[in-house]
Amino acid sequence: MRDIICSASNLFAFFLLLIPTLKVYALSGIQPVNLRSEYKVNPVIDIKNPRLSWELISDQNNEVQTSYQIMVASSVKLLEQNKPDIWNSGKVNSNSTNQIAYKGKDLISTEVYYWKVRSWNKSKNEGKWSDISRWEMGLLDKKEWKASWIGYNLDSLNKNTSYHLPPAPYFRKAKDLKKPIKSGRLYITSLGLHEFYINGKRIGKDYFVPGWTDYNKRVYYQVYDITSNLTHGKNAFGAILSYGWYSGYLGYALLVKSPQVRAFYGDTPLLKARLVIEYQDGEKEVIVTDNTWRANDGPLRESDILNGETYNAGMDLGDWNMPQYDVQRWKTVKIYPDKEERMLQVYPGNPVRIYTELKPKSITERPDGKYIVDFGQNFSGVVRLKVKGKAGDSITLRYGEMLHPDGRLMTENLRKARATDRYILKGGAEETWMPTFTYHGFQYAEISGLKYAPHKEVLTGIVFSSATPEAGKLETDNKMVNRLYENIVWTQRSNYFDIPTDCPQRDERLAWTGDAHVYMKSAIYNTDIAAFFTKWLEDVNDSQLANGAYSIYAPMPMKDGKAAIRASDSYSAGWMEAGIICTYELYHAYGDIHTVKKYWNNMKKFIHFLAQKSRGNFLFKERSFEETTPKGGFGDWLSIGNKTSPDLLATMYYGYCANLMAEMAKAVEEKEDQAYYEEKSKKIKKAFSDYYMDETGRLKVNSSIYGDVKGYIEYRPEKGFHGHTQTAYANAIYMNLLTPLQKEAAGKNLKDLINENSGKLATGFLGVKPLLPALSVTGSTDLAYKLLMSEEYPSWGFEVANGATTIWERWNSYTKEKGFENNAGMNSFNHYSFGSVNEWMFENMVGIKSTKPGFREFVVKPEIPTNGINSVKAFYQSINGLIHCSWKKDGDLFILSVNVPVNTKAKVYVPVGTEPNILMNKRLLSEKELKNKLEKNVFVVEVGSGSYTFSSKIK
Ligand code: BGC
Repeated sequence: MRDIICSASNLFAFFLLLIPTLKVYALSGIQPVNLRSEYKVNPVIDIKNPRLSWELISDQNNEVQTSYQIMVASSVKLLEQNKPDIWNSGKVNSNSTNQIAYKGKDLISTEVYYWKVRSWNKSKNEGKWSDISRWEMGLLDKKEWKASWIGYNLDSLNKNTSYHLPPAPYFRKAKDLKKPIKSGRLYITSLGLHEFYINGKRIGKDYFVPGWTDYNKRVYYQVYDITSNLTHGKNAFGAILSYGWYSGYLGYALLVKSPQVRAFYGDTPLLKARLVIEYQDGEKEVIVTDNTWRANDGPLRESDILNGETYNAGMDLGDWNMPQYDVQRWKTVKIYPDKEERMLQVYPGNPVRIYTELKPKSITERPDGKYIVDFGQNFSGVVRLKVKGKAGDSITLRYGEMLHPDGRLMTENLRKARATDRYILKGGAEETWMPTFTYHGFQYAEISGLKYAPHKEVLTGIVFSSATPEAGKLETDNKMVNRLYENIVWTQRSNYFDIPTDCPQRDERLAWTGDAHVYMKSAIYNTDIAAFFTKWLEDVNDSQLANGAYSIYAPMPMKDGKAAIRASDSYSAGWMEAGIICTYELYHAYGDIHTVKKYWNNMKKFIHFLAQKSRGNFLFKERSFEETTPKGGFGDWLSIGNKTSPDLLATMYYGYCANLMAEMAKAVEEKEDQAYYEEKSKKIKKAFSDYYMDETGRLKVNSSIYGDVKGYIEYRPEKGFHGHTQTAYANAIYMNLLTPLQKEAAGKNLKDLINENSGKLATGFLGVKPLLPALSVTGSTDLAYKLLMSEEYPSWGFEVANGATTIWERWNSYTKEKGFENNAGMNSFNHYSFGSVNEWMFENMVGIKSTKPGFREFVVKPEIPTNGINSVKAFYQSINGLIHCSWKKDGDLFILSVNVPVNTKAKVYVPVGTEPNILMNKRLLSEKELKNKLEKNVFVVEVGSGSYTFSSKIK
């Protein structure tokens, strides 16, 4: 693979270092690589028809797969002998390489299945078998667990006036394993968070498991290979539970003075574990959580995901998770009943893990004797401490994203999140501690209580993130744009944290559906989020409200039919459409029709809700959403300038959803539904333009209808609501709601509005995503670049120029002149919504855009700015293979290099000048070759797989 890419261009040299190394094969045909089951490499799953995928490589150009054959066997040996005792697909004539559902024998709980695949190429030559891959089954029936939920209720402890932070319960059990061990598996989950230990060693690399779900409906579990942890003889199993999302503080409940502020699903964290040990003689032994386990409280005195941890090392339990240990003072655990309807499933996402570690960039002493440690990067995580001192010395860590001008930690924007960790020393030798059931959003940590000046080894920044595999990267010759890109990636890493959170620092961290859908396409280009969104879409659908609307965040804990965090939280236009948009994006990026089918009825139910609400009018007139709080919903949240009417936005989203439903209906062959949504889409478009557009194509709203209605968000009666806004035109264009003439007018209006606004953007969350794409598609590429590269307020560049290392929530979250004066309580510095410009950076600046789900077919159409950026290079690991694209402008010369994966096709647009002189892979193209391929200033060519370099004169 490497060889193929290298020959294309050495421009990629830098990126080659970053891409996953694939084995170099001597190829005679096409070779399947990167085998995955349910989007993961060698996973544990509990799906009865797992979907298999592979990518193809070849040393020949223009290669496609014409057939494939999959074999599945119960052992490597059988598979090597081509004796698939589980499934032999036979030779299947198909060019698909992903979303291929297993169709063999019924899969059995806990079994391991081995599989391989081979493919036939365009000349019908069979290729070599792939390497062997595997998947393992979890427990398919909940009854197989035989393990009880065990708990130790400490809830009555540590109640004080501000917070109620009980200690974490510890659990243990010792067991003699009487014979030599062949293998061991741990199936584990908790209501709350857990860490599990065997003979003193922490099991697995995962944190914050089993993640946040609607625990009344489902809870996930993890499966670990514990063979190497077990010993023949005495063993000890230990667990620590924390309150987490199950019974800890959530969101802004405390801030808004909700009747309930924590323990939304239950007040006692519970553990369920099943250990299966196979002895070398074939006998099996099963150990489960039951009333033989013992529990105690220990040194972890406070443990809350939002508010922090307190660890008193003086209360150390010693070797509590080792075999020899006196448990006399430990209590018997209590067994808690299960909820019959609660599903126990294998975690489908990518668990949170340590992404990287950061060393302090600087440590500064404050006048009060405290120290401020700067990690040089805003991130989600904790600090690992390495300290020495006397018994009882207490060290306090507080966290902030920014400093006040006088050097103080800025914590006003954390609101009620205490975000404080405390470590009380045991005394004597050096002590190391790292909180593991809490995390914070910060760049700066304030340390106090240490009896000496901390040096750089004392504190290490531990960065947590859901372990979504890297899928893409871009780099330009423009420093500001590169930093912006880094900021986007860091913000995604910080907020893709089991669920897509809005921000990691303040008392919120909810998976706001609006934020999630505006940013999702951008995220796809950075990391492989197929598994992550497979998980979150469960949450979204579990949280669908009784009336069919999708909620404003998910999971959304409920009490008596209302949101428990804040009773008025329900649905909002621009947010609730995530149930459809995110499903569509998953389909579009990965060809995932399975998820479309799975949630088809839920999505239909949502459209039905909209249809009913619009009373058959196919649009939402002014004041259609007055039943929600805030009235009208969130609108173009945090926009600046004229406010777009929330009802006009709701109408556009209605039309967009109908469009997406029609496209998805076609993909899943729901013919009747397809016709229904196509018709609906037409009617909405017509109703929209009839009502909200004048004859010149200008969007309008009757603002007087809103009058001085109170309760609308950020509503200023004197300014009214508008239709003629950047956000309205950008969305109408992006959502494909316009006729060609209307689109032209909208493009002009959009451009004029920006120019009238001194060439600046004015969009909020809903307007920013489509802004640059809409400019590009209506011929204003230069203006799109101007917005991208501007460093004046408001712009992305303004944040970079002001030292941002992540994307801010507000355009003016901080200014050098005014500091943090804009709403301290609602001012996150790590909020990905405005990072949705990444979509345009990949699709228009780099220029790669999928035209058939999963990049089976795509265009390469870079848009070249007049100035500011002269070279761009990027890669994207699509589900159909690795795509590279780089371009460079060198005076009059333009060079474009592309790598097109096997089994895919690309339509490449090469910009040309007045005299088309085009070299393709160093060969001058003849007139005949150019014939019919020259469009206005561009040469368009369709290519199959391979590497291509084009150079052309652009003047
Ligand atoms: C969150 C947003 C969210 C919004 C709804 C905020 O507090 O941080 O990102 O979408 O509420 O308007």
